[in-house]
Amino acid sequence: MTTTARSAASDVKNLSLAAEGRRRTEWAERSMPVLRLIRERFTRERPLAGRRLSACLHVTTETANLAVTLQAGGADVALCGSNPLSTQDDVAAHLVKDHGIKVFAIKGEDHASYYEHIRAALAHRPDITMDDGADLVGALHMVALNRLDDLAPPVRRWVETLSGADRQALVAGVAGSTEETTTGVIRLKAMARDGVLQFPVIAVNDSDTKHLFDNRYGTGQSTLDGILRATNLLVAGSTVVVAGYGWCGRGFALRARGAGANVIVTEIDPLKALEAQMDGYRVLPMAEAARVGDVFVTLTGNTHVIRVEHMRAMKDGAVLANSGHFNVEIDLDGLRQAAQGPTRVREFVDEWRLGGRRIFVLADGRLINLAAAEGHPASVMDMSFANQALAAEHVVKHARELTKDVHRIPRELDAEIARLKLAAMGVAIDTLTPEQQKYLASWEMGT
Ligand SMILES: NC(=O)c1ccc[n+]([C@@H]2O[C@H](COP(=O)([O-])OP(=O)(O)OC[C@H]3O[C@@H](n4cnc5c(N)ncnc54)[C@H](O)[C@@H]3O)[C@@H](O)[C@H]2O)c1
Repeated sequence: MTTTARSAASDVKNLSLAAEGRRRTEWAERSMPVLRLIRERFTRERPLAGRRLSACLHVTTETANLAVTLQAGGADVALCGSNPLSTQDDVAAHLVKDHGIKVFAIKGEDHASYYEHIRAALAHRPDITMDDGADLVGALHMVALNRLDDLAPPVRRWVETLSGADRQALVAGVAGSTEETTTGVIRLKAMARDGVLQFPVIAVNDSDTKHLFDNRYGTGQSTLDGILRATNLLVAGSTVVVAGYGWCGRGFALRARGAGANVIVTEIDPLKALEAQMDGYRVLPMAEAARVGDVFVTLTGNTHVIRVEHMRAMKDGAVLANSGHFNVEIDLDGLRQAAQGPTRVREFVDEWRLGGRRIFVLADGRLINLAAAEGHPASVMDMSFANQALAAEHVVKHARELTKDVHRIPRELDAEIARLKLAAMGVAIDTLTPEQQKYLASWEMGT
């Protein structure tokens, strides 16, 4: 590991970056008024006092504001990255140096370092875990189910040093967990369905104030931002193929169209495909879209959505990017076998030669918005992380009643976050009159 600031309590790139991380984190904080209100209440009430919390999140300026909020609530926080390319090294340094938070994350870390950092977060012996993609919870469950061969080597080697009782205590010590993203929630629901989930999990992604805004407007804007920072391509007049018309896909399609692209959507769900068609996009199977697209972006949460057979049909110079959680949406292993390359032609841009044509893959197929840009704007993460902070508090308050299942935070809290966000934006709305309340509750009245 090539780090200059490694200790038992942290592993970050360079502590001297802390001042810049602090400046950027404070800038993000200005756009996070809802989280600020929660932090002020947490400081007074200390709902997480005495709790050890391990978080596996993208280490960005917004996450820094969440970590500080959790710490203000009394939690002893350890943070590792949820993607090898998404860490902002200056922010990691700031959290360690200015807040004494244990951070294990370095931008560009290799596979072994990534899992060594997950190990460090587990070794914090959390009462609460907070995931973005279920990597922490996934590892804990491999320990619970004694499937040590399924653990990445750095985690497995450490778990093997623990006694049976110690391993049990590691899992039993977790009162509950929270999950940030669609992909993680899908994995957790599968665990619950198979009856193996060991503790309750709050699916933060299922809150309306999360996926309706973060996935749609956050991913929409920041994905375009990532592609532009990586390539500086002109969007106007180009053909952009959007794979997946879920929350993220809708947001990105909207922004690509707004920037002047001709947008094509690919889908596997008839309802979503119909929605895309009626929203005015062209809907095609990937095999056909491959022939006409200039830029391809996957936002499905699925695997091998763009395969070599598609890449062979693409135009010379096609650009491929992914903004789904894992780097499996573009079949890079297949590309590696079929093509020559890569040649790094620009930061975050790899050129591959396939049948005499060039294919450009951005950021190794990892989340382009976090790898090449800065992730979502703080204003939208304000709501996502307000949900995270309230979800952690909910786990602590209700650990005994919550079943070992995937839950959402109560709808009243979700609505309260929306109310606070509107208030912070200076947007007022109407309230029901008594007559309207009665009308909406009655069934007798007609025309
Ligand atoms: N980049 C980011 O910062 C960011 C933010 C939020 C979520 N995500 C991730 O983005 C992914 C999508 O999230 P979402 O909330 O939009 O999910 P979603 O479930 O709302 O949408 C996914 C869509 O992809 C479609 N799909 C599945 N397989 C497909 C295929 N082979 N071809 C075409 N379409 C296919 C599904 O039918 C669905 O409509 C997830 O992995 C999620 O974790 C990333």
